[in-house]
Amino acid sequence: MKTLTIRRPDDWHLHLRDGEVLKGVIADTSAHFARAIIMPNLVPPVVTTSDAAAYRERIMAALPSGHRFEPLMTLYLTEHTNPDDVEAGKKSGLIHAVKLYPAGATTNSHGGVRNLEKVMPVLERMAKIGLPLCVHGEVTTPEVDIFDREAVFIETVLEPLRKRLPELKVTMEHVTTSDGVNYIKSSKANLAGSITTHHLIINRNDILVGGIKPHYYCLPVAKRESHRLALRAAATSGDSRFFLGTDSAPHLDPLKECACGCAGIYTSVNTMSCLAHVFEDEGALNKLEAFASLNGPAWYGLAANEQTMTLTKQETQVSFPSKRDTAAGLITVFDPGFPLFWNVTG
Ligand code: NCD
Ligand code: ZN
Repeated sequence: MKTLTIRRPDDWHLHLRDGEVLKGVIADTSAHFARAIIMPNLVPPVVTTSDAAAYRERIMAALPSGHRFEPLMTLYLTEHTNPDDVEAGKKSGLIHAVKLYPAGATTNSHGGVRNLEKVMPVLERMAKIGLPLCVHGEVTTPEVDIFDREAVFIETVLEPLRKRLPELKVTMEHVTTSDGVNYIKSSKANLAGSITTHHLIINRNDILVGGIKPHYYCLPVAKRESHRLALRAAATSGDSRFFLGTDSAPHLDPLKECACGCAGIYTSVNTMSCLAHVFEDEGALNKLEAFASLNGPAWYGLAANEQTMTLTKQETQVSFPSKRDTAAGLITVFDPGFPLFWNVTG
């Protein structure tokens, strides 16, 4: 039996939802992760510091007793966001990032930003106070092919923005392309990227070949194999600019298994087992701690966790539930498509 002990990991991009779904999914994260950057795309979204404080209370109330977990709250950037509220949120220790969703890019993003010009005063304030901007890096222009949206965003939105405001710290979230990886690697400062569990494992064939697989559909959509390989190389390199953001995004099964299914993959249950498998495959188990436990806190200006996590490679396959049963309904758990032998044992 092989074991691996690392600092306790954090998740730098997580959807916890609200109400019964929140209550049904939170333990899957808090069982393994000490902290998580909480996405603000609720209905209605978390737009002010007081919304975020109230949402944090609901998360803490849903936490199973005995679980220690720190939700790191974010604000959903809109064209009406007030820079003073953002600054007050950061000063109070509640707000750890502001999230930019280009309007229409993904689930619950219709209230997002249409015109970057209108949010420049907020971004300037964030640059001044050192608050990171988390970016959903896809353009939404209908003419741009869905598989090209990340690359076009880098060229037409992100690079001009970073030239204009080089002091702004930007997290390119859920990077899915070699273009994204190369862009992050080429930057000298103030840019980092999170990578999801599933983008290290699936490519677009997994979604489309042999029948459409709604539980592999997420945004940004998985790309061709060469991009998956670039993501694996980046994640397992130890490069401090890349860290884990699962983008675990639970949707009830009927909302995914229908004519217009929602984007989002629920990976919180088996993420650490999947990652240990991927890192072992790449001969890089010794880099898992950097990716899951060290690089993220360093980027967000926090200390790494003192507690540890032990992963054990078992002789027999680890079994995970295929569905998470919540009071609101069933949510399908990510199937990596191969048996998992690494288990969280301590
Ligand atoms: C996310 C969701 O469901 O909220 N979906 C997804 O496919 N990742 C939104 C997002 O992060 O794009
Ligand atoms: Zn997300």
